[in-house]
Amino acid sequence: MADLMLGIETSCDDTGVAIVRPDGSVVASAVASQVELHDRYGGVYPEMASRAHVDAILPTVRKVLDDAGLRPDDLTAIGVTRGPGLIGSLVVGTNSAVGLGDGWGLPVYGVNHLRGHLRSADLDERRVTYPAMLLLVSGGHTLLAHVQESGDVTLVGSTRDDSVGEAYDKVARMLGLGYPGGPAIDRLARTGTPDVDLPRPARDLALDFSFSGLKSAVSRFLAANPEHPPENVAASFVEACLDVLLAKCRTALAQYPSECLVVVGGVAASPQLRERAATLCDESGVALCLPPLRWSTDNGAMIGLAAWDYHARGLRERPRPDTSLTIADW
Ligand code: KG4
Ligand code: ZN
Repeated sequence: MADLMLGIETSCDDTGVAIVRPDGSVVASAVASQVELHDRYGGVYPEMASRAHVDAILPTVRKVLDDAGLRPDDLTAIGVTRGPGLIGSLVVGTNSAVGLGDGWGLPVYGVNHLRGHLRSADLDERRVTYPAMLLLVSGGHTLLAHVQESGDVTLVGSTRDDSVGEAYDKVARMLGLGYPGGPAIDRLARTGTPDVDLPRPARDLALDFSFSGLKSAVSRFLAANPEHPPENVAASFVEACLDVLLAKCRTALAQYPSECLVVVGGVAASPQLRERAATLCDESGVALCLPPLRWSTDNGAMIGLAAWDYHARGLRERPRPDTSLTIADW
């Protein structure tokens, strides 16, 4: 049988499905986005997200199989996100995957979403060399971890409050930019000058982060200066975020021997972050590993590739949704 893993991702607001080989090549992929649904509320509405996954999941699986010209019989196994994420959305994904696995006679692996983001850096081609320093920046998480080739992961820093993606989304809402905020803030920031003096939070937190103070500082500034050019506010906010993220990466690379810096998660789609990370890696003498843009935000391919690691380890248990998984967990 050919080595073909069906990866399914439903932890938040995207229904992602893909078929992936163990070397990271993606045979087919589709993402059914719920952006229009949640834009009305300025953020993800969990109950609506679960219902939208119910509607989208089987048609998206069907589409990916059709695009690849494959039948269920051709698949080796199924990998599905079991956490962390929104519990209702995880239940839809894991139950659907178990149903498909039972019906098609395939093993089903429950995959840690954070390990999926980590493995997104090896999609299409192998990039990561070990030991690696991981910066994971998404809507749900902001963390630094030291990763070994064996798959052992040590968490070395994480946010004490908001994730950086959450801060982008909230500041975007303050500026009336809609959801998701990250891409809109990035575009606006590029046309502005960073002339607002914002804090660089978490200087004293070693490798931990904190973004809620920065978000509040932007809110206070906007209340006091409603006429200030929004592009300058966006540029100042992005610069403050990046200063903090890159300073922590620099410290982490100095403390933990690393062959490369891996930057993954939705915020890794930011061109400004990509540029700043490239400069840091040049200066630090380590390689930079970035997933292609389409694999930075949530997708099924990263879950499919991570599922091959579970397959190799024989981690075959009925997938139980778990919202509390950390990057160190399987
Ligand atoms: O990884 P992801 O798709 O979902 C989670 O696992 O959370 O990340 C979504 C986050 C959102 O906060 C979104 O605003 C942010 O990634 N994002 C960006 C960009 N594209 C998405 N942030 C900054 N710049 C971008 N271009
Ligand atoms: Zn994610």
